Amino acid sequence: MIGSTGLDGRPERDYSGPRVRGLPPTPEEYRAQVIVGALFAVTMVAGFALLVVYLVGGDTQLQGILLTLAFGGLGAGIVVWAQRLLPTRLVTEDRHPLQPEPTAEALATADATREAEAGFARRHLLIGLLFGAFAGLGAALLIPVLSLGPAPGRSLFVTAWRKGSRVVGIDGKPVQASALPIDGVLTVFPEGAVGDAMAQTLLIRVPPDLLRLPAARMAWAPDGYVAYSKVCTHAGCPVGLYRAIEHRLICPCHQSTFDVLDGAIPSFGPAARPLPQLPIQLQPDGTFVALGDFPEPVGPSFWNMTSGGGA
Ligand code: FES
Repeated sequence: MIGSTGLDGRPERDYSGPRVRGLPPTPEEYRAQVIVGALFAVTMVAGFALLVVYLVGGDTQLQGILLTLAFGGLGAGIVVWAQRLLPTRLVTEDRHPLQPEPTAEALATADATREAEAGFARRHLLIGLLFGAFAGLGAALLIPVLSLGPAPGRSLFVTAWRKGSRVVGIDGKPVQASALPIDGVLTVFPEGAVGDAMAQTLLIRVPPDLLRLPAARMAWAPDGYVAYSKVCTHAGCPVGLYRAIEHRLICPCHQSTFDVLDGAIPSFGPAARPLPQLPIQLQPDGTFVALGDFPEPVGPSFWNMTSGGGA
């Protein structure tokens, strides 16, 4: 038994017979179909247009508008379809005596009724437009993939520092130990790589007897000259502040604080890993050379995130 009005009070059509495939849409249904089709078409066009605009380097605002249209059209279309084209009535049916096998006619009637109630039997065009809308959206979602840069490979694990690299200042000239007073700090690079973001290093001079480095690393800090990566292990900002009175390096981005005397372990802030120490050696002429690259990757942790070996 089928009622005559839906949950929203709208008059319902009779879908109970086998002739539902042939029923023409009512004017209201027709209007709803046109609206849904137009909204899906908007999604499809906006999605492909977004991809084209991205590929030709169009401006970000236009891409944002097109993305809004793509998602908005799809969402609005689905809502209108659900509200205006899918039946919302309550249906109750008397229990029939159980039969061993339904007849072929009964099965055909049931199939037709299900299709009609789902609103799909007469809406192949809308289905096609819905797939078109998803295709447009899929094209738009390609953009993040296209924006990925080349895979970094092993480049994040190494810097320009090599065994024998001369330690030079921002001017490219070798740093003289005598030029750095006690509690002085200098940004240094490997010779030939001045300005390299990953290789930037802080050379700091502290009273040698205050250093509390692991025994194996004491030799890397000749006469109290100790070198740490300048790239913050939290999010990669340059650690640019040195509070000499406390012998602490401070990252200006989120105030991570590193203890220079104690292997640059973090004592405050979000950084969870020490600044890697560069092994250096003082030369007879008063300059420095590196004994090798940093013992571990510089900057934010990434390689040991799943092993629990660091933050
Ligand atoms: S980047 Fe240095 S504390 Fe966040």
